Amino acid sequence: MKKVIFVMGVSGCGKSTIGNLLAKELSIPFFDGDDYHPKSNIEKMASGQALNDQDRQGWLETLNALAKQQLKINSCVIVCSALKQKYRTILSDTIEDETEWIHLAGTFNQIFERVNSRANHFMPSELLKSQFETLEHPENAITMDISLTPENIIKKIKHDLMNTSEFGLFGLGVMGKSLCRNLANNGFKISMFNRHVEGVEVDVAKNFKAQYTELSQSKAFDDIGEFVNSLQQPRRIMLMVNAGKTIDYVIEDLLPHLSENDIIIDGGNSNYKKTKERYDYLKSKGIHFIGTGVSGGEEGALKGPSIMPSGDKDAYDKVAPFLETISAKDKNGLPCCTYVGPEGSGQFIKMVHNGVEYVEMQLLAEVSTILEALGQNPDEISQTLESWHNSASSYLLEITTSIFKKKEGNDWLVKKILDKAGNKGTGNWTTIASAELGVPSTLISSALFSRYISFYKDERLQLSDLFNTEKTSALNITTNEILEAFQFARIINHYQGFKLISEASIKFEWHLNLSEIARIWTNGCIIRSTLMEELVGVFKETTNILTHTDFINQVQKFKPSTKKVVSECLLNDLTTPALSEAVQFLNGITTQYASANVIQAQRDYFGAHTYLRLDDNSGKSYHTNWI
Ligand code: 6PG
Repeated sequence: MKKVIFVMGVSGCGKSTIGNLLAKELSIPFFDGDDYHPKSNIEKMASGQALNDQDRQGWLETLNALAKQQLKINSCVIVCSALKQKYRTILSDTIEDETEWIHLAGTFNQIFERVNSRANHFMPSELLKSQFETLEHPENAITMDISLTPENIIKKIKHDLMNTSEFGLFGLGVMGKSLCRNLANNGFKISMFNRHVEGVEVDVAKNFKAQYTELSQSKAFDDIGEFVNSLQQPRRIMLMVNAGKTIDYVIEDLLPHLSENDIIIDGGNSNYKKTKERYDYLKSKGIHFIGTGVSGGEEGALKGPSIMPSGDKDAYDKVAPFLETISAKDKNGLPCCTYVGPEGSGQFIKMVHNGVEYVEMQLLAEVSTILEALGQNPDEISQTLESWHNSASSYLLEITTSIFKKKEGNDWLVKKILDKAGNKGTGNWTTIASAELGVPSTLISSALFSRYISFYKDERLQLSDLFNTEKTSALNITTNEILEAFQFARIINHYQGFKLISEASIKFEWHLNLSEIARIWTNGCIIRSTLMEELVGVFKETTNILTHTDFINQVQKFKPSTKKVVSECLLNDLTTPALSEAVQFLNGITTQYASANVIQAQRDYFGAHTYLRLDDNSGKSYHTNWI
């Protein structure tokens, strides 16, 4: 990453000498800030008057413009006293992450004697005293003691600059390792940490570093203190560890080594509520916390995941250059990484992403079962799924097409896999969040409970003997009707997922941008698809896709096939919970007068819970003595 190195300090500390030497050592251009004063400042200083903040404003802005200009070409060194923090803020405006500060620090006597011992040089002590009184010590600077020789100062600056990492990755599991390689492949200087567990996790970071040439410049640690101290401030530390209590233990282990304004990024599938708690806790410690969803699995993390960060916007701006560089890119080359919103909104949408993912996976499992019931073998199922590519292209369709082709010897591997689905809990959380928010994510819960039903394998074997199902191959449906049912259910799935996000955004006042969320899900993540591409534009017009003409037409077009497929499967005892629920949901959400009046009457009958009336829109509640 290109850098502007500002060498700062009071008059006489040796800025120009060190700045020049450093620029030569790093083979980058050198600029003396004093050469950029306007004529009025030069005349004022020549007349012995001190410059005020107003005099400096234009000058500092000129130097900031110079720095930005140079960054387009190369790194550079600029020397400037920059005594006050507000001066440094102007100098680094919009380039904070590409700026390094070197502070040449010495005592009053050191500098006074040094300057006044030079021939033809005299600095009135009043001037030097006012410089020291004005100096505000920079928080995130590399401080150099000017009692060292210039050569040693340059050596130490180089060491601190070159030997500190820009980004720290904590936790070298599958995703953590892939993210490290991605960061290194993009030229970032990183430090990698993995804990030491005798006999279990030994030299993990060291061995990982040795495994890949792209990590040759990266640093490997299993000591937390050394890991943290290897990072430039403000430190950026991304945790890739299991969600849950582990995150809190790691935070407590890190805290003693951190400095104010350091940033911790949680890249795990953490619960959005816990992220809010951690954000508040760390804020009280002066540490910034960002919760981010990371989607795309091992390959995505290596080549470009979809990244969903939220929390502290200022902190996000400091990590954006890293996350946006390593993320996947959309069709316009923009990062599939964006500041999602406040608090835990990033991990909330990741949780919803996983809910939508569960349904997409369930739908593919169901249509594959139907195709099998039509008599297709795995190769034929794969060919059918492949033929759907133009109508329903998605990452999950693509991998499922490959899965049915995969052989082990002469057998299809998929037919050998035990039909008990596992889960790490994200779809579970989405269902809980839907219930808590009162949002009918019926497909997500259906897909989740389908996994739970699959888990009762022994009971299913036992009951299947007791209940004879009427499986026949007389399924009177075509593969095109199955495709249309699949497309229908996917639209309902995406409607429900974004409905949940929209309702949460309203309830938690997150003001989330659905179009931007769809955009960062068009590449890198597990649910990337052409349907997601379509939603980017649709969400610019409405937050409810079922009110959009394009989707109304598609749903109307696909519904007859869906009803036929679901009915035929029902009549043949083929279980298609997600496909069936998709039709049921649409019928429910489009029913003008639902059966809930009976529910209300029942509740009032036994519990006097009262009811509203159709013929009274005042909101008045009624109770009837039904006996
Ligand atoms: C992703 C995936 C990932 C998920 C695994 C396991 O976006 O990269 O969603 O985050 O955790 O796929 O999920 P389940 O075990 O819950 O199926």
